[in-house]
Order: sequence, then C-alpha cells, then structure tokens
Amino acid sequence: MSVASKLPSVAGIGLRTPHIAQVRRDRPAIGWLEVHSENYFVDGGPALVALDAIRADYPLSLHGVGMSLGSADALDSGHLRRLKRLAERIEPAAISEHLCWGRVDGRHLNDLLPLPFSDEALTVCCDRIDAVQRALRRPLLVENVSAYLRFGTDSMTEWDFVAAVARRTGCKLLFDVNNVYVNAVNHGFDPLRFLGAIPGDAVAEIHLAGFDASGPCLIDTHGARVAPPVWELYRATIERFGPKPTLLEWDTDLPALEVLLDEAKTAQAILEQADALAA
Ligand SMILES: [Fe+2]
Repeated sequence: MSVASKLPSVAGIGLRTPHIAQVRRDRPAIGWLEVHSENYFVDGGPALVALDAIRADYPLSLHGVGMSLGSADALDSGHLRRLKRLAERIEPAAISEHLCWGRVDGRHLNDLLPLPFSDEALTVCCDRIDAVQRALRRPLLVENVSAYLRFGTDSMTEWDFVAAVARRTGCKLLFDVNNVYVNAVNHGFDPLRFLGAIPGDAVAEIHLAGFDASGPCLIDTHGARVAPPVWELYRATIERFGPKPTLLEWDTDLPALEVLLDEAKTAQAILEQADALAA
C-alpha cells in the first residue's frame, strides 16, 4: 500500500456508495476517508475492487456498526473473522466500533443500542474489546454513541464508563463530539464535563455530524450540517486534546460530495488554528 498507515491529524469524510465513482474520478483533496466495514464483508466483486483503488490514494479507516461489543451474547466469531479478513486486505489506518450492543439470542438488531453504565456492562465490553484486539492484533478505536434513554441502575456516568473502557483495555477512543452534545442536551449534563474526563492520549479519532432538532429531543440523524454548538464543542475538544484526525459523517439525506468537503474544510480550519496557536 502506498499511503500512510496512520490516520493524519487532518479532516476526512465518510465515504458513502453514491460518492465512490466521483471520488475515484476526481480524487478530491481530502486527508482521509472512512467506510463502514460491513459494506465490504464480501468475497470479491466491484465494491471491494473500488475500495482497493481508493485505498491506494487515501488513508482509510474501517468503521464497524455490527460487532455488538456490549452484548451479553458471545462475540460473533464469523463477524470478527470477516472484519479481520477485510483488514488484512485493506490494511486500514484505523479500525473502529461503537460502545453499544445490537445482538441478543443470536438475532441482530439493526441499531446502536444503549448500555447500562454498570460494572457488569463494563466487564462485558472490556472482555469483548480485549478479544477483538487480540484477533486483530492492534488497538480498536471505540466510539461513544447517542442514546435516548438512561437506566435506573446506572452506577457511573457515561464519561467515567468510556474512560474506564480505555484504561482497562488499552483501546483507543473515537470521540464523537456530536454524540456527546446530543446526549448532553437530551439527558441534561454539561458536555464539558464529558470532555474533561476523557484521557486525551487515548483519543485517536474524532467524529462530527449533524442532528435533527425538530422533535422533543435531539435525534442523531447524520443527516445535516454540523450544528453551531457542536462546532463550539469541537473547538474546545481540539483545544484540550490537540489536533486529531477528524471525520465528517453524513448518512441520511446524503447531499452532494461538495457539501461534505465543505464541512471538512471548516473542521480543517479549526485544526489549523490549533496548530498555529501551538507553534
Ligand atoms: Fe460517530
């Protein structure tokens, strides 16, 4: 592979199928790309060929949605095997998953479901993360998710849970700024408390996305531009952690590629301001 094996601390975008042909043709100036791992769990065919071609031009991150790290079910060994095979082929700069669950009694629920923040759930997640990291022989990046409920049995805050996962397993964190903001509004906490509890050297990637504010609570749709208070929280994040690889995610109502690139430009400007201040 001809490009860096580590994500650069610059802005990237989530690459979705409708944009692949344009990216291959125009090779836009963007620092790196991220794809959903499961979309490439195939033995061959045009999707993998396209990914190989893109990987030759850009650092690439594999972002999973189906590992179900917090499920009480045993880890899905077939899922892990397919991820490992894809990683061996693509040699991604990062592999990430979500701190959530989505599988019960062998059935997969197509959502990133919330965990109770308990010692028991922490042990389950850490065991699964240890197993994934052993299989992949590299640190996994684990992402904080948006959640629309909290459990009465929670014995710690979300930020203490996330920090404990990183401390216990040595995994890296994918710090999703939008998810922190959505949860802060929906559950009534100060997002700076979350930010302040996260060990900066564990953070290997940042996500930014847009939410829907039309209902009684914020919904993390990944279907809009990043909201002003999320940009503000991102600035505070970069001030605290220093420049980090930052990804613009957009999954619903996907706009033209140029809109994603424009959002990435805003993130890049914030990263460069932080660099200039540090110099
Ligand atoms: Fe995210």
